Amino acid sequence: MEKTPSKITVITGATAGIGLAAAMGLAGEDHIIIGVGRSQEKVDIARQVILEKHPDADVTYLLTDLSSQEQVRQLAKEVKDLLSDRQLDHLDVLVNNAGAVTSWFTLTEDGYEHQFAVNHLAPFLLTHELMPLLEKSEQARVLTTSSASHRNTRMHWKDVMLGKHYGTLRAYKQSKLANVLFTLELNRRLGHGSTITAYAIDPGLVSTTIGTKDTSGFVNWFWKKRSSKGAPPEIAAETIIYLACRKEIPYQDAFYWKECHPIAPSRYAQKEEPAARLWELSETLCGIE
Ligand SMILES: NC(=O)c1ccc[n+]([C@@H]2O[C@H](COP(=O)([O-])OP(=O)(O)OC[C@H]3O[C@@H](n4cnc5c(N)ncnc54)[C@H](OP(=O)(O)O)[C@@H]3O)[C@@H](O)[C@H]2O)c1
Repeated sequence: MEKTPSKITVITGATAGIGLAAAMGLAGEDHIIIGVGRSQEKVDIARQVILEKHPDADVTYLLTDLSSQEQVRQLAKEVKDLLSDRQLDHLDVLVNNAGAVTSWFTLTEDGYEHQFAVNHLAPFLLTHELMPLLEKSEQARVLTTSSASHRNTRMHWKDVMLGKHYGTLRAYKQSKLANVLFTLELNRRLGHGSTITAYAIDPGLVSTTIGTKDTSGFVNWFWKKRSSKGAPPEIAAETIIYLACRKEIPYQDAFYWKECHPIAPSRYAQKEEPAARLWELSETLCGIE
């Protein structure tokens, strides 16, 4: 019997937490994995960990600091080159998973607030840059790891970078709302019947170290206490694996998922007007014509 070709998956933030667990699970599902990390040491370890469990897995890691738009563009080029060297011409799944929590108001080299840049602009730009490869897949998926933190907030249009009133959670919540609005607008622009479908994922509370990497003593302490009650990353990764692997996905119009089921995002996150406005702003901020 002829073997079904392996799906090709790019996953960011694949060196730790939910992203590493998803890369591990998808490697076990015979996906060709292109993981993205920002430290050589961590990508080497992550690849090794996956190969220990799945010795025949096809896993490559690329290095990128997603806070830099130049590096995001370079990443997309490296993905294209890597695939073309292997006579592969398409991408089936893009998992925009990398995320950061930053206690201090910090501007990236492009002049944007760090959480907005890493958590929203990087997925936006990477998806844009990889779109020609996604369009060549028979059935592509763009998955973005959002959060229940997108609830009870809205876009701060007058100060999107939050330079006037920065708060760790305020910036994080806005960036996770942006993940849902991005997914809504991407599907609207692709239209019904497109071969590409986008989903935003709420992983629930997960026991990872995200809140201890670039945070003040209080946030660090708080996150350690809170995340100890979270689910293991492997459980959180199940929804990513489900949406990446399943041929037919029920509930066609459901674009926000948790625990392998669609749920409603916040009312604000279902509104077309902020979704379209964010898209236009993101194009401008990423220098996309
Ligand atoms: N943990 C939760 O309870 C929870 C809840 C809701 C949503 N989420 C979302 O889930 C996603 C994954 O988070 P996690 O909890 O698994 O956190 P994590 O363990 O800290 O993993 C985050 C990943 O993103 C990478 N990353 C961060 N900044 C980056 C940058 N500038 N450039 C490149 N890579 C970068 C990290 O790299 P390093 O390994 O080098 O740090 C790591 O691989 C995030 O989008 C987060 O917002 C998490």
